[in-house]
Amino acid sequence: MPVVGMAGGGQLARMTQQAAIALGVPLRVLAGAPDDSAAKVVSDARVGNDRALDDLLAFAQGCDVVTFDHEHVPGPHIQKLEAAGVPCRPGSAALAHAQDKLVMRERLSGLGVPCPAYAPVPSPDPAAFLEAFGREHGWPLVLKSTRGGYDGKGVWVAGDPEEARVADRLQAEGVDLLVEEHVPFRRELAALVARSPYGQGAAYPIVETVQEGGICVEVISPAPGLSKDLAAEAQSLALRVAEELGVVGLLAVELFETEGGLLVNELAMRPHNSGHWTIEGARTSQFEQHLRAVLDLPLGSTEPTAPYAVMANVLGGDDPEVYPRYIHVMAHDPGVKVHMYGKESRPGRKIGHVTALGADLAEVRERARHAADYLRWGPAMKDRAR
Ligand SMILES: Nc1ncnc2c1ncn2[C@@H]1O[C@H](COP(=O)(O)OP(=O)(O)OP(=O)(O)O)[C@@H](O)[C@H]1O
Ligand SMILES: [Mg+2]
Repeated sequence: MPVVGMAGGGQLARMTQQAAIALGVPLRVLAGAPDDSAAKVVSDARVGNDRALDDLLAFAQGCDVVTFDHEHVPGPHIQKLEAAGVPCRPGSAALAHAQDKLVMRERLSGLGVPCPAYAPVPSPDPAAFLEAFGREHGWPLVLKSTRGGYDGKGVWVAGDPEEARVADRLQAEGVDLLVEEHVPFRRELAALVARSPYGQGAAYPIVETVQEGGICVEVISPAPGLSKDLAAEAQSLALRVAEELGVVGLLAVELFETEGGLLVNELAMRPHNSGHWTIEGARTSQFEQHLRAVLDLPLGSTEPTAPYAVMANVLGGDDPEVYPRYIHVMAHDPGVKVHMYGKESRPGRKIGHVTALGADLAEVRERARHAADYLRWGPAMKDRAR
């Protein structure tokens, strides 16, 4: 069996191990510390720095293919791995579009893919430029660091020119910025597809994602009330982007649904939070699909296993002792599936997720929300309005 190496030891690598077990594929991870989420469950976990070239090269020795659990491995390092003959999937050229939001915007616009209005922010002294951008596209506007963001870190909404002054401070810290119009979206959607080197593609149902404070808290599959046409359009768009960019593995396309149609927010080329529901809710989980794709195996069926699947993220609450709260959640609803990531609980940190399946959407949402809220707050959840 070929060895798959995954750089990064977070929960995505951890859940990839779950799929690797069933496939019989040996997985190796490069984790930052022995107690990283994935390092705790992968027997072939190497500890090192996935931002350091030497560590990456040592890690790749003996891997048949290298893939990634996040976007933060520097592109030039991936190019060096490729030059050393290590198949990286996705490759550095494709991955650049998930690593740098300006590169992504420019490429997608070039392909005629609808995106929010955007511009690179000049440095230094961006104030006049941002004021002009705000006059043209309206306030608030959205500032984003081109690289390194996740879970809304790296996104600032500025309501007026005064608030846009945050750009000066960020630039002084060395952060490159782009600016976008603030899209008055109806809701957020995500399209998840896989593409293999052979060129096979597979698309999951389009989901609705709900973010709070920049963090995804809930995913509903399929997106309720989405017309067949719009769903097909979103799937084709994602498959086309995967093909044009030469993506191998999974591609998640985060979308805004607006009055005027779909706009692309951003791309991720790895298993994605919007696809965790597939573990129970689809014939092939996104983690298995990613492994199949990077190994150039035939892709698995994306057929849903229930009319609706709802995933809710479990965030850390005030009391880090989550375990006692399990009992209630499991007793309350034996059908809810609980996934914990082996991460220390801190307030607001993603420490797990729950999934519920069923035919009655309101009920399925309530079950998933109840389980996630209870795991976070316990009985005190009643006092916490979401
Ligand atoms: N142009 C925009 N207009 C309105 N809201 C936006 C815009 N860009 C981003 N947002 C909001 O901020 C959230 C986070 O933005 P984005 O996905 O770019 O950041 P991120 O930190 O890279 O996210 P992720 O957690 O997906 O890695 C989006 O899901 C959306 O809710
Ligand atoms: Mg995002």
